[in-house]
Amino acid sequence: MYSERSFGDVVSQERRGIDQPNHRVLGHVVQCDGARAVISATIDPSASEEGNANNYWTVGKMISINLVDARTVGIVYDIRKPDRLWEGSTQHSIEVSVELVGEVRDNPETGAPVFDRGITTYPCVGAVSHRIRARDLAAIYDLGGRKGVTIGNLAQDEAISANIAIDDTLSRHFAVVGTTGVGKSTAVSLLVRKAVEARPDLRILILDPHNEFAAALPELAIRIDTNTLDLPFWMFRLEEFAEVLFRGRDIESEEVDLLRDFIPQAKHLFRNPSGGSYIRRTSDALTADTPVPYRIADLLKFIDERMGQLDSKDERPALKSLRGRIEAVINDPSYRFMFSSRMIDDNIHRAIGHIFRVPHEGKPITCFEMAGLPSEVVNAVCSVLARLAFDLALWSDGKLKLLLLCEEAHRYLPSDPRLGFAPTRHALARIAKEGRKYGCFLGVVTQRPGELDPTILSQCSTVFTMRLANDVDQSIIRSAISDSSASTLSFLSSMGQREAIVFGEGVATTMRMKFERLELARIPGRAKALAGNEHGADEDDVDLAGIVARLRNVQKTQMTQAPLSGVSVSPVKQAGEPDFRRPAAVHQATLDIESNFGFTSNSASRFGNRTRQD
Ligand SMILES: Nc1ncnc2c1ncn2[C@@H]1O[C@H](COP(=O)(O)OP(=O)(O)OP(=O)(O)O)[C@@H](O)[C@H]1O
Ligand SMILES: [Mg+2]
Repeated sequence: MYSERSFGDVVSQERRGIDQPNHRVLGHVVQCDGARAVISATIDPSASEEGNANNYWTVGKMISINLVDARTVGIVYDIRKPDRLWEGSTQHSIEVSVELVGEVRDNPETGAPVFDRGITTYPCVGAVSHRIRARDLAAIYDLGGRKGVTIGNLAQDEAISANIAIDDTLSRHFAVVGTTGVGKSTAVSLLVRKAVEARPDLRILILDPHNEFAAALPELAIRIDTNTLDLPFWMFRLEEFAEVLFRGRDIESEEVDLLRDFIPQAKHLFRNPSGGSYIRRTSDALTADTPVPYRIADLLKFIDERMGQLDSKDERPALKSLRGRIEAVINDPSYRFMFSSRMIDDNIHRAIGHIFRVPHEGKPITCFEMAGLPSEVVNAVCSVLARLAFDLALWSDGKLKLLLLCEEAHRYLPSDPRLGFAPTRHALARIAKEGRKYGCFLGVVTQRPGELDPTILSQCSTVFTMRLANDVDQSIIRSAISDSSASTLSFLSSMGQREAIVFGEGVATTMRMKFERLELARIPGRAKALAGNEHGADEDDVDLAGIVARLRNVQKTQMTQAPLSGVSVSPVKQAGEPDFRRPAAVHQATLDIESNFGFTSNSASRFGNRTRQD
């Protein structure tokens, strides 16, 4: 492969003068099969720590092999002593297997090292392998002019910062995977901080199942829970509304069919309070899915009317059951966020603007706190929020960039299609597949990549893989990393805390790195505990009254509170007594709903003056 002269050059290039330190020379190539090479080296247990190559031979390190006009870069995946004998302090020869990942060449004009993936010249037997130069290492991870943010340091050389291309990481979706306690949430809080710093136009909605992010991002985030959320029931599609009504249990199709009939009628009545009977399939037909306001009282009225009809005998059990469900749900304080009167007027754009931070008022992140919420609420609300995120980005004509961050994503995007809630899955899959075009991005975080919908994971072009203990999870990640063979990833199960392998669009080359160490106040979970202590919370001082109130699904102060104006949702009210009084002024409102969202002309112009066509 080489001429005699060039072979000599190759072998002798790293040779130094007798007085020069030779500590960068590690060994010589003794075998190469194209993708991999074996290096023979010597280690000396008696050598001093300083300048000693012994410590350098560890799995996961990068080394370089010197060729005439390039330095081939390899990553160590196996080290062995062939005779498996160890005798005292003599020198030992060892074999080191490396995977070849690319080449570094010096730019002829500037002299700066430039890295290329792939190998054009293979190392010959006898080629010298040496410690990689810091400049070469930096060149390997150089983002080539893409806008980078620093999220930590390289695992191999802490002096070199680990950068990711923030635009590509966001816009092509990303995933953070790793076993529990390894630092995913902390890494995510670091990533979102860096993301909003680098992209002031970005808004982030974190679906936070442990209520831990808001405390770690106090100056950047607002928190929303079901006590402060404004998401009217009429924004829910029929299947989302049914999920709430049936509380995640099997859905009675007869009752859903009735709803499909009644909801458009109620919407029609709300639009035309003075009369005019509802005619289906007109050009402006309202469906049960159109996000147009209506009143629950009207819905109940239609149910009652149908029950009173002579020919409804067969339907009566279903009508009765449906009525009972609706009453149960509107009287349940967990669902105040859907049925409170604040939302059945034309300020819906303000409610949506608050959730998605338009305007952001210095806090572009929203943490939707879901701890303790019933799963059907989580399912339905996540579905509505994911739909809204996509549609907002779509109809803002690219002005709004939205990142939806799903913690514990395997809960609502499970790999088994029979599990989870289909509308949430569809809404998130839509963002994963098409969101990029419109500026709606997805970030998924999971401790069980094996239980996550594989189509979603495959749409995540940048993956931050932290320690993974489970074989199935590891094999999923191995199969996803295209530019590195499985053998080089054997350390997935033994990586330290904060450590991650990053691969995909966001980095130049698969990168083993350590996230920045964060102070306690910025670590999700820890920050919350810290804030609690600062406010004088005593660990022994358990708020039992608060816990009991929670178990009863009511707020502690709620028993004595006056009902919200307009709609009476009393926790102590008996079933069978719907009490939906609305002020006349509210009745007039919301008639001027333009888009399917219920945006007023005001809000429509804010989002680009477009109305939805579909
Ligand atoms: N970058 C970091 N800087 C400082 N400490 C960290 C960092 N990352 C992780 N830790 C430590 O590890 C602990 C666990 O981290 P974290 O809660 O982020 O893990 P996790 O992977 O999200 O866990 P879980 O799967 O249980 O949600 C933190 O409380 C903190 O002590
Ligand atoms: Mg976590």
